[in-house]
Amino acid sequence: MADQKTSELMEKIVSLSKRRGFIFQSSEVYGGLNGFWDYGPLGAELKRNIKECWWRSMTRLRDDVVGLEATIIMHPRIWEASGHTSTFSDLMVDCLLTKKRFRADQVEPQSGIAYFYTGARDQAQGKESKDAFSVLVPRGKPPESARKAARQFYEQRGLQNPELQGERSEAVEQSIRYNPENGSLLTEPRPFNLMLKTYVGPVESAENISYLRPETAQAIFAQFKNVLEVSRQKVPFGIAQMGKAFRNEINPRNFTFRSREFEQMELEFFIRPDEAVEAIYGKVSQPAGPGHPGEPQPDWGWQIWHQYWVEERLRFYESIGLPRQSLVEYWQKPDELAHYARATVDILYKFPFSKRDEQGELTGEELEGVAARSDFDLSQHQRFTGKTMAVFDEELKAAWPKLSPEKQLELSERYRQARLKYLTKAGEPGEKAEKLAQQDAEALSKGYYVPHVIEPSAGVDRLALALICNAYCEDQAPDDKGKLESRVVLKFHPRIAPLKVAVFPLLKNKPELVQKAKEVRDLLRPHLSVFYDEAGAIGRRYRRQDEAGTPFGVTIDFETLGEQGPELKDTVTLRDRDAMTQQRVRINELVGLLSSKIR
Ligand code: GAP
Repeated sequence: MADQKTSELMEKIVSLSKRRGFIFQSSEVYGGLNGFWDYGPLGAELKRNIKECWWRSMTRLRDDVVGLEATIIMHPRIWEASGHTSTFSDLMVDCLLTKKRFRADQVEPQSGIAYFYTGARDQAQGKESKDAFSVLVPRGKPPESARKAARQFYEQRGLQNPELQGERSEAVEQSIRYNPENGSLLTEPRPFNLMLKTYVGPVESAENISYLRPETAQAIFAQFKNVLEVSRQKVPFGIAQMGKAFRNEINPRNFTFRSREFEQMELEFFIRPDEAVEAIYGKVSQPAGPGHPGEPQPDWGWQIWHQYWVEERLRFYESIGLPRQSLVEYWQKPDELAHYARATVDILYKFPFSKRDEQGELTGEELEGVAARSDFDLSQHQRFTGKTMAVFDEELKAAWPKLSPEKQLELSERYRQARLKYLTKAGEPGEKAEKLAQQDAEALSKGYYVPHVIEPSAGVDRLALALICNAYCEDQAPDDKGKLESRVVLKFHPRIAPLKVAVFPLLKNKPELVQKAKEVRDLLRPHLSVFYDEAGAIGRRYRRQDEAGTPFGVTIDFETLGEQGPELKDTVTLRDRDAMTQQRVRINELVGLLSSKIR
């Protein structure tokens, strides 16, 4: 449960987000649509900057990653192969009184006195309901409050004057069977598929059912062979994609944190299976210890690649302003791992609404998952399409004959066992699984394998929210008369700040100042996002930009016009949002100076 201080902080953040045009409720004029959010002028810029930073660091600054932009609706068989049709579900429970739906794992445990009823009768109507009902009331509350809820339950079953039957009561501790909002019994948990369905084509029939993608990753697997062919990449290499994803979340909550429509930024980084690495290099490099393992090396096995990507992603978050101490690296426990995952590290951010541990420290909520997914996904698409997803590796083919017969046997057997394990889990009958695993082991000795994958998968909206929470700050700043007043400031890193610089003429009614300010605005505009503001006292204008998170302010004053001497002509004051310091800078140096601060 969030404490009062953190919920007050979240309220301030939500209200600032709306007031300053970061985030609005979708369809607000119609009362809103739960789990859907729109980004206003500043929010749209913020998201764009986040995606631009991610794309740049994941693709443009690397030789070994290429991009993809696939459709949102894909062939429905993709979701059968990925497992989403059968297993992408959450357990949900419904309130028996209000029908409100909750995720079973999010119901807060309750204690109190539970009242049980076996049914109810209405003599006058000659009607009866044999539906059992129960309601939990806090200790010390009279039984009448339980009876009131129970009568409501039986009225909903058509009894006008229900006489309750078989009442009994019992003390209950820490139960998750009751609705925390009204004490009513919840239904038994049942699975609920999170994919949003639609129909492709004019006929709404079963064969036309399609889904809005619940993740962007599957398109990368489905297009793996095409991208490999055209990009001249060799394993290890990655394919990156960002775009919309949709999940019919049972309980959208915590502002944009759990939404029904959101954006993902995903990388599938394909690597050799460890057996191939060992065959080529005689060993598989393992992590030497915690921390970044350095530049990628050809003899790296999956564990060191996994660690590399966790550390790369942490560096990315730091590079856009999330301090290391606001992030948590959470290694999923073996019983939490998806069945195909060998290891998953969740990168958490300590949101104000995160739970607290015994020491009162925020535990964090997931920003990104970095999963070592073995060769599961490509293998699934291979089985479902009947088309090979294996790659040919010349180095492996050349290395294999040079291995001793014992080594060949050892590596073949290890690979065969791994493939057999996958095929058996995937449901292939015993004999067929044995045969396919044997074929895969033989293919390995000829240089063929299905690549394994490391997947760093992040959410744009969660990151935008983390950046806003992290940037939010209340401090003191002098007003126009030098008197300290409290200010709200978003201390965004200049790289992701929606607006980079605001340009102000000192006075609006001095045409020379206004003209010069507009010249400066036009000079800066091609290089960075600029906001021009001439309305109100200069202190008020600074405050407005502080709230928008604009890191720099440029003021054109009488010195700029040369009225205080020629040495200050064509200089401006450059204000730093956080330090609130001002320095005098030549106009012709502004582009270089500001560009260096936002890169
Ligand atoms: N391909 C793997 C995958 O989709 P995930 O952990 O389900 O993994 C990855 O999602 C990221 O997508 C999460 O870490 C989160 O940032 C974002 N995400 C997932 N569900 C979300 C939701 N309902 N609302 C906002 N972001 C979400």
